[in-house]
Amino acid sequence: MLTGLLILILASVGNAEWWVILINHRHALRITVTSAKKIRWLHDAALVFTPILFLIFAGLRTNGLLRGGTWSDLPVLLQLILGFAIAGCLSLLWCMVQWQLQAPCRKREVIKLCNFSAESDVRGSKPSPFLKVPGNQILKLEVNRKQITVPREGAAADVLRIAHFSDLHVFNCPGLSYFDKTFEELKELTPDVFIFTGDTLDCPDLLENILPFFKELLTVAPGYFILGNHDALFDQEAIRAGIVSTGWTNAGGLVLETDIAGHSIVMAGSEAPWIGENPTPPADGNHGLRLLLSHTPDQRDYAVKGNYDLMLSGHNHGGQIVLPFIGPVYSPSRFGVRYAGGLFQHGHLHMHVSRGVASKDPLRINCLPEISLLEIQWAGNSQLDES
Ligand SMILES: [Fe+2]
Repeated sequence: MLTGLLILILASVGNAEWWVILINHRHALRITVTSAKKIRWLHDAALVFTPILFLIFAGLRTNGLLRGGTWSDLPVLLQLILGFAIAGCLSLLWCMVQWQLQAPCRKREVIKLCNFSAESDVRGSKPSPFLKVPGNQILKLEVNRKQITVPREGAAADVLRIAHFSDLHVFNCPGLSYFDKTFEELKELTPDVFIFTGDTLDCPDLLENILPFFKELLTVAPGYFILGNHDALFDQEAIRAGIVSTGWTNAGGLVLETDIAGHSIVMAGSEAPWIGENPTPPADGNHGLRLLLSHTPDQRDYAVKGNYDLMLSGHNHGGQIVLPFIGPVYSPSRFGVRYAGGLFQHGHLHMHVSRGVASKDPLRINCLPEISLLEIQWAGNSQLDES
């Protein structure tokens, strides 16, 4: 009976993992809101009802696993279904191992932890019931520093300081005051450049309210941005034009050659698969940095083929809910939770995947919102080692 119970539990867990894989992969694609909702309902129903069906047809039937029967007493079709479901546990196990092995990717120096949760004005006009969930970190912002060494010859000796932020998802909750404070923290980083990698808002009516925040940052350094999949749900060109009107430079679908703090940089922007296509990678030139802004880290292979040094992304929100030992479960990527958040390297490509500033569903467990100061140095440049 205990073995039977274990089989049913493993089948239920594995079943859930298969549906998680499906939902992660589908949300990495360009799908309509209606399709996304249908898949979500299917996923929710499958997580609830499939274990009940397993219990009825495999556990409680005559000679069922919970009534003295064994595996061989089950019909072959049921054995196949349960076997397939249990195989899902292997994927979950692999994700857990990968999460543990990737611990160095999540290393960062915390500059400041801003706990805004006691301040009522950051809760917004319609505080979400999620704010009452114990351990919800949505109103705690981590300001951190991460270092990246790019293997490219002939670059300037100075360190390049990029303030990278992503996934604002401005909506009713958190409120505008949360974003005001977040932009204040960005300004205090006094970087060489600000880079925003998309998902500006989930309420287009608030666009005008946040534009002054963007504009204010330009008193410190120039800003470059791309849009994300949530921007594509609304009038994306209005959002783009709004941010451009503040003085920020749009990089979406473009290749730009620029000079930032003495560094010659070629910068491309990808909003694929939601808006446009990946731009044709720039020809090799005498640049200190080949930089790609891509809302999703799913453009990893394009970035490698395009010989970019560094890709800045967001989209996956760090998984939003990070379970002890297991790690994140949901991450809308074709790579699943592999690039949920952190610093990664694939071949010569460095990747920074921001956990983002907020999210449409304001719930984060063990997954702080973040803004990051990226200090880029080049191989052979020992400035950071000496300091
Ligand atoms: Fe997002």
